[in-house]
Amino acid sequence: MLPLLLLPLLWGGSLQEEPGYELQVQKSVTVQEGLCVLVPCSFSYPWNAWYSPPPLYIYWFVNEKSPYYDEPVATNNPGRKVKSETQGRFRLLGDVRNKNCSLSIGDARMGDAGSYSFRVERGRDVKHTYVRNKLNLEVTALTEKPDVHFLEPLESGRLTRLSCSLPGSCEVGRPLTFSWTGDALSPLDPETTRSSELTLTPRPEDHGTNLTCQVKRRGAQVTTERTIQLNVSYAPQNITIFRNGTALEILQNTSTLLVLEGQALWLLCEAPSNPPAHLSWFQASSAPNATPISDTGILALPRVEFAKEGVFTCRAQHPLGSLHIFLNLSVYSLPQLLGPSCSWEAESLHCSCSFRAWPAPSLYWWLGEKPLEGNSSQGSFKVNSSSAGLWTNSSLILHGGLTSGLKVSCKGWNTYGSQSSSVLLLQGRLNLRTGVVPAALGGAGVMALLCICLCLIFFLMIPGRSPGQTAPETKHLLLGIPLPWENNRSSIMPPSAFLR
Ligand SMILES: *[C@@H]1O[C@H](CO)[C@@H](O)[C@H](O)[C@H]1NC(C)=O
Ligand SMILES: *[C@@H]1O[C@H](CO)[C@@H](O)[C@H](O)[C@H]1NC(C)=O
Ligand SMILES: *[C@@H]1O[C@H](CO)[C@@H](O)[C@H](O)[C@H]1NC(C)=O
Ligand SMILES: *[C@@H]1O[C@H](CO)[C@@H](O)[C@H](O)[C@H]1NC(C)=O
Ligand SMILES: *[C@@H]1O[C@H](CO)[C@@H](O)[C@H](O)[C@H]1NC(C)=O
Ligand SMILES: *[C@@H]1O[C@H](CO)[C@@H](O)[C@H](O)[C@H]1NC(C)=O
Ligand SMILES: *[C@@H]1O[C@H](CO)[C@@H](O)[C@H](O)[C@H]1NC(C)=O
Ligand SMILES: *[C@@H]1O[C@H](CO)[C@@H](O)[C@H](O)[C@H]1NC(C)=O
Ligand SMILES: *[C@@H]1O[C@H](CO)[C@@H](O)[C@H](O)[C@H]1NC(C)=O
Ligand SMILES: *[C@@H]1O[C@H](CO)[C@@H](O)[C@H](O)[C@H]1NC(C)=O
Repeated sequence: MLPLLLLPLLWGGSLQEEPGYELQVQKSVTVQEGLCVLVPCSFSYPWNAWYSPPPLYIYWFVNEKSPYYDEPVATNNPGRKVKSETQGRFRLLGDVRNKNCSLSIGDARMGDAGSYSFRVERGRDVKHTYVRNKLNLEVTALTEKPDVHFLEPLESGRLTRLSCSLPGSCEVGRPLTFSWTGDALSPLDPETTRSSELTLTPRPEDHGTNLTCQVKRRGAQVTTERTIQLNVSYAPQNITIFRNGTALEILQNTSTLLVLEGQALWLLCEAPSNPPAHLSWFQASSAPNATPISDTGILALPRVEFAKEGVFTCRAQHPLGSLHIFLNLSVYSLPQLLGPSCSWEAESLHCSCSFRAWPAPSLYWWLGEKPLEGNSSQGSFKVNSSSAGLWTNSSLILHGGLTSGLKVSCKGWNTYGSQSSSVLLLQGRLNLRTGVVPAALGGAGVMALLCICLCLIFFLMIPGRSPGQTAPETKHLLLGIPLPWENNRSSIMPPSAFLR
């Protein structure tokens, strides 16, 4: 519609009408195919109130040649047949007695384009076509898109009514037909998608999907459609924790995550929701007013220590519902066995062994194939073990019964594996072939060499298996047992001399 102020400019020629006849209507109007337009119009004509009151008839003609033979597109004269093409679509909605000649055009067709003239008839004296003022109607292709209305926001699980309407259309002419398409719609129920109204209970997976409403006039070729992207608010449905980009399989709510002592731990907590949930990490289970150790989904521990062991919680807070998940952090350390180192003291063999591991390290001695139990002092041997923190240290004293070829082993155990290491007792002379002789001694006399060899305890380390976390590692120490007459000399060697 043109603003009212502009209308007088367009009413060109109204002054040239016969005196008393005036028509106020815009010169041209444009309507899109299938849509509607209301053309405001008012008219005046000379009338003497003394005359008899015959009825007042008004007519709109298109491309009029003869007001007597042409069929009008609209009239209030019940005796005149209107053009069948425009019947029902061209209507006079105003009050004719108030000189309102407004013309409503609905479901416009391309064929409606043309020049429209207005005529008024009353009795024998008033028969006038307003030739100077004609209305030019243009019909253009349909470009208007439908509007989709609904109450925002869309919430997962909440029934929502959506309606589709075509602005500028009216309920005349061919009926409008609607069709909805989209991934959020159940394909099993096409009937519900045939109306201008659609009820939908969106699911989380519908977020971001497209929903299209298509409108056309029944029987017409042209269609118009509007696509909206659904913005479905939904609470987090699940929580996933990623470690170094790999999702942790959290089968139960409290799964245990094993981390090697000293390693960096970087965990990312994700809880898909819309809008995004607020994620935070708590040490221990999250009490309502606990202080988070991380206010994002990222938990970064540059060095995992045993003190960090315990339950961690990732919480996803969302207005539509919150979730949390527990993670049990369990720390382990690589087992580390020191020893056994042995020495001769007062005709007995003193060995010590240390084992560092977490959790709960324990240490056992074996003599040959026979285990020596706990803290005992049963005549021939004496074991003293003590544990503190990650360490279990143990000492063994053996009296007598020592023969060449006897193996003294120390085994460390914990939940994640074991390590063992042995000392093989060998008669000194037998050792000559394999023992490592310091190069400086190479030129010395046989007796001197023999003497030194008898006095020294050689050890030779044969590399065991490459150290693994749980694989038992065995070190072989070759220990020369002094001959009985050399016991005194051996006993004066400080124990440190036997160590590497
Ligand atoms: C003429 O009638 C139309 C349709 O009812 C209305 O919209 C318009 O306001 C009326 N014009 C006047 C001047 O009363
Ligand atoms: C959704 O519609 C938009 C524009 O309307 C389009 O760019 C996008 O490709 C559509 N997405 C899908 C999945 O059809
Ligand atoms: C989706 O809806 C949420 C509120 O529910 C709003 O915060 C967000 O901005 C919307 N996103 C888009 C792309 O419109
Ligand atoms: C987690 O929830 C999202 C969104 O609700 C869903 O797409 C995804 O399949 C769910 N994942 C699992 C493992 O259930
Ligand atoms: C994760 O990354 C850290 C640092 O980038 C690394 O030290 C650690 O070995 C990685 N852990 C795993 C399980 O890949
Ligand atoms: C984990 O268990 C707690 C209570 O034991 C519960 O509140 C929470 O919802 C559970 N989380 C998940 C993701 O199942
Ligand atoms: C965490 O894991 C450790 C070692 O697996 C276990 O002893 C402890 O009971 C677990 N704690 C919880 C709360 O599950
Ligand atoms: C056992 O060893 C600890 C220190 O390792 C020592 O204090 C304690 O006296 C020893 N006990 C015996 C019976 O030797
Ligand atoms: C062995 O004895 C020491 C002290 O003599 C003691 O601290 C330790 O707990 C004992 N170990 C065992 C396994 O009895
Ligand atoms: C055990 O031995 C290790 C290594 O020799 C040492 O660091 C630690 O302090 C010892 N612990 C005890 C309780 O003697």
